[in-house]
Amino acid sequence: MDKKFYITTPIYYPSANFHIGHCYTTIICDAIARFKRLEGYDTFYLTGTDEHGQKIQKKAEEAGVTPKEYVDKIVDDAKDLWKSLGITYDKFIRTTDEEHVECVQKIFKQLYDQGDIYKGEYKGLYCTPCESFWTESQLVEGKCPDCGRDVYEVTEEAYFLKLSKYQDKLVKYYEEHPDFIEPLSRKNEMINNFIKPGLDDLCVSRTSFDWGIPVTFDDKHVVYVWLDALSNYISALGYKSNDETLFNKYWPADVHVVGKEIVRFHVIIWPIMLMALGLELPKKVFGHGWLVIDGGKISKSFGNGKDPREFIKAYGVDAVRYFVLREVPFGSDGNFSEEALINRTNADLVNVLGNLVNRTISMNHKYFDGVVLNADVSEQLDKDLIESTTKLHELVIKNVEDLKVGDALQEIFEVLRKANKYIDDTTPWILAKDETKQDRLKTVLYNLLETIRICAVYLQAFIPETAEKIFNQLNTKQTSFESAKEFGLLEQNIKLNEPIHLFDRIEVKE
Ligand code: MSP
Repeated sequence: MDKKFYITTPIYYPSANFHIGHCYTTIICDAIARFKRLEGYDTFYLTGTDEHGQKIQKKAEEAGVTPKEYVDKIVDDAKDLWKSLGITYDKFIRTTDEEHVECVQKIFKQLYDQGDIYKGEYKGLYCTPCESFWTESQLVEGKCPDCGRDVYEVTEEAYFLKLSKYQDKLVKYYEEHPDFIEPLSRKNEMINNFIKPGLDDLCVSRTSFDWGIPVTFDDKHVVYVWLDALSNYISALGYKSNDETLFNKYWPADVHVVGKEIVRFHVIIWPIMLMALGLELPKKVFGHGWLVIDGGKISKSFGNGKDPREFIKAYGVDAVRYFVLREVPFGSDGNFSEEALINRTNADLVNVLGNLVNRTISMNHKYFDGVVLNADVSEQLDKDLIESTTKLHELVIKNVEDLKVGDALQEIFEVLRKANKYIDDTTPWILAKDETKQDRLKTVLYNLLETIRICAVYLQAFIPETAEKIFNQLNTKQTSFESAKEFGLLEQNIKLNEPIHLFDRIEVKE
């Protein structure tokens, strides 16, 4: 079995502080990366920032600082946010990193030398005050969509990447690799909307601003931001540096997880760049939907992009992680609101998980002084619970493999719900009153503790802080992925720690 796993988020524009929509991909990739590590994969999880381009340059000018000073501040803040969300990236790449800059320059030069990049003329509609190029379709009533002023046709010398040359090869690749683009609907969209009409060669340099990576052999040009940005997935591994160990180990990526609006860059430009470089293509590009508020994408400029740290402070990091992972079927859009976050937390984390762990640990303390005992007095009810718990292994692995993290969580919580029902059905408080039922009581509590332990093994990937708290209460050493395969490994005669509340019910304020 191939035991390496390379997963990436897009690299984010540090043009404003991040909102919960940005956390979406990062949390999902983190859960997948953590899960793969648990499973024993040698995992590399990459995220970072996409720092060049005219937009950033303008923002920095408005703020009266250099572009680098401007992005440094946002990058520090982003790293702080990822830390507060428990994101376990293996590398945070910045497109201003020297190694990345050199890599992009070498890529550009190679593609130019081999004839895949050529010099030509770029014709566009230019708005002088905004210093922006627009296409006909972007104009609003024939004027600049940003400031509403007139635009002029301008011709600029520029470099182009020969997308057209690779069009047939790309379509063939899609056909031969049916899993390359997921979900399937995105693949059809790409073929019908972008590829079938024919691929035009892509303008890959700019001369109208200078906050970018200079073309080494023609330095009035800077490299187009998408060519620069996409290269991060290999520059981060040291491609074309003097140490390509990571590149040789992890490339091709197992999956690039990206938002639906940027799928086309990842399944058209990026594969063509890689084909031209003679490199393997990523195994999969997964295009997810957005977290939306009232049907609209979350954004700072609409004022609905509250700092996610406020939610973490109010409800805890795992409530935020759980919501993002569980609420939205991966691939579709999903609604975000503070109310939905509260409802989800109360319904699952408080009522199901918190309640089960608290009741079980408390009963064990009350009836057996916190000592874990098992007496093997089984009934049919037990078999059902044990079977469901044991089956989780296969189900969770499969769902994560298909990137359906929400479904994986749903399976785990289904078992936790069953365990709550098992308490109601076995009524330990009645068994406790009967001298002759003490062995049965031991078995019932053991089954509950063991179900909790096994679920917590998987939960480590999704809500790690909570899983850790559960293991602490259980006082167990059986926390490995392998140990979740078999029911009955929870050590007997160990003493549980005191029960603690995992989640407090959140009261909704009017
Ligand atoms: N810099 C480019 C990516 C280059 S990758 C080689 C970019 N940056 S971005 O900051 O605008 O967006 C980064 C990611 O955040 C995108 O995948 C985008 O879909 C995602 N999201 C931004 N807002 C979002 C939501 N409201 N919901 C879910 N994802 C969202 O594009």
